[in-house]
Amino acid sequence: MRQPSNNKLIQFDISGVDPITNQSDGVDFYTIVNRRMSRRKFLKGSVATAVGAFLTTPLLAACSRPSSPQAAAPAVSGLGFDAIAANREDTVKVPSGYRAQAFLPWGTPLVAGAAAFKPDASNSALDQSRQIGSHHDGMHFFPIDVQSGGQSSDEGLLVMNHEYVDPDILHAQRATELPRPQQEVFKELMAHGVSVAHILRQPDGQWALVPNSPYNRRITAATPMRMSGPVAGDDKLVTRYSPDGTMTRGTMNNCAHGFTPWGTYLTCEENWAGNFANTDSEQPREHRRYGVRTNHSNYHWESAEPASDDTDRFNAAVHGDDASQDYRNEPNHFGWIVEIDPFTPGSTPIKRSSLGRFAHEGVVFAPPVEGQPVVAYSGDDSRFEYIYKFVSKHPYHQATASGELLDEGTLYVARFNEDGSGDWLALDINDPEFIARAEQAGVEFSSQADVLLNTRLAADVMGATKMDRPEWGAVHPHTGDVYFTLTNNTRRDASQVDAVNPRAENAHGHIVRWHERGDHAAAVFDWDLFLLGGDAGTHTPGTGGEGVTLTSDNHFACPDGLWFDNRGVLWIQTDMSGAILREGSFGHNAMLAADPETGEVRRFLTGPVDCEVTGVVTTPDGRTMFVNIQHPGEGTASAGFSSHWPDGNGARPRSATVVITRDDGGVVGA
Ligand code: FEO
Ligand code: CA
Ligand code: CA
Repeated sequence: MRQPSNNKLIQFDISGVDPITNQSDGVDFYTIVNRRMSRRKFLKGSVATAVGAFLTTPLLAACSRPSSPQAAAPAVSGLGFDAIAANREDTVKVPSGYRAQAFLPWGTPLVAGAAAFKPDASNSALDQSRQIGSHHDGMHFFPIDVQSGGQSSDEGLLVMNHEYVDPDILHAQRATELPRPQQEVFKELMAHGVSVAHILRQPDGQWALVPNSPYNRRITAATPMRMSGPVAGDDKLVTRYSPDGTMTRGTMNNCAHGFTPWGTYLTCEENWAGNFANTDSEQPREHRRYGVRTNHSNYHWESAEPASDDTDRFNAAVHGDDASQDYRNEPNHFGWIVEIDPFTPGSTPIKRSSLGRFAHEGVVFAPPVEGQPVVAYSGDDSRFEYIYKFVSKHPYHQATASGELLDEGTLYVARFNEDGSGDWLALDINDPEFIARAEQAGVEFSSQADVLLNTRLAADVMGATKMDRPEWGAVHPHTGDVYFTLTNNTRRDASQVDAVNPRAENAHGHIVRWHERGDHAAAVFDWDLFLLGGDAGTHTPGTGGEGVTLTSDNHFACPDGLWFDNRGVLWIQTDMSGAILREGSFGHNAMLAADPETGEVRRFLTGPVDCEVTGVVTTPDGRTMFVNIQHPGEGTASAGFSSHWPDGNGARPRSATVVITRDDGGVVGA
């Protein structure tokens, strides 16, 4: 973490990685058999066994499910494009026969009355509140007819997250001394959040924003929102803005996303903790276990001058007579999954607390089954944190399903056993095992709201498996297998290696997958490692039958974005940073396609300088793919931007969506 040496010349920590806050000794709660199994033995033995068991597990009865907005298409074998080489060009490259075009870059006028983007970044905070935000990330395409089957591939709502900001790119020339100018802070808050863009395919095949559509909308770090589920109205949510603890302002650090079977969008709050400062000598566990800063927030938002209630809230120290007089509880309003109804303009976003509070990377739903609970998976992207599963209390019925299904249910955390099995451990104040383990650990929870506010601590208590930074998840449309990226963890030492996180100093990351024993609500699963990241020559046994050995056509590191298209092709996006990105063999961040049936993996797209590739979805017909390019030129400033994508000619770099189509109009990737 970069810290300013003094308050004169401020720098920002926008690296996106939390400090390690999990100091729990998870193995004290559960003794893992063969914990010290060597990696070699593990790779030759248990993975192969786990893979064998995995492949013989019966397929789920996909045909019994109602059709989702993107119903499964027949499985295809093989990938129908030539791999592109790793490279260091300042552009987006796709295979021959494809075209890629930048779309909806940061600053694009979105809402009626929005100002044009000014290439010198001199747009105001008010302008930004009506323009496409910064740092595009998770994204979903809702066909315009989603409520009646969702078959349109020509018109829809493209809804995307804006994860964070780089002040050196967002502002024409940002102030370098404290206090932060209020208008700069406001512009940064307006650049966070979500964009809803109504888009239409033109007769010439190009996609365009529908100007003045009532659906076009910005949701920012200041948009009023409602809390729901067990935490709503809790004493720990009382603030000056919300004396009854039911309302809140804004969503931030929206990394990956999800979408529900009932046609709403979910945005996930990831590295929010760094945006708050609590300088009190003692921090409550709701702050400490999440890494709320102890000196100043990453962007120094709490220093804004002139001060306002909108910026005071980033100071989470106690300074009022009671919680309704200050913002000691403001960090407790973040770390949630937020539901947005993009088809109801002006609808109030809702933070669904039953899905837990942590550094939510994203959320992915199992295909819904009529009369069965709704099941969703979410990873906590920080080193040594966990993977969770939510199972609704009430059954899904397509005709009546709504977000209320997310307000009651059970949150589980994953334990990956050495023998290839796994267990879902309930974080439930009424569960006898949870009560016993909390007592054993000497940890008190006063209510389910307290459990959810302290989700990480509850997971520690249950002895969950500490993972190498869980990022996106994806559910195979035909088999129901769940895949998760584990992006990297260079802090894991040899004594901390386990079967599911098999490499010490894991710089390259890997992808795990599992199959529930029974339906998706099952308490037990079987897992294996799908793919290890690394240089050419890196071998993952078992995958595709013979195992996969990476070559120059597909070597990769730091998998992050993950998505299955409706044919069952897995799209893998990378987020390398630091020395691996700049000096490694991998070139720029990239997107690969994998066929889990055959074990084929192939590089499909490479991004411009210093970007991350994150967020991918297609239209229902698979013929238009949308991919997000985040933070080209990150860490550089107007004195010498490292990237000029997408505008070129020395321009300021801008995060943007890329529209990918095939010259012959065919299905992307096939
Ligand atoms: Fe925002 Fe975990 O990537
Ligand atoms: Ca990510
Ligand atoms: Ca990442």
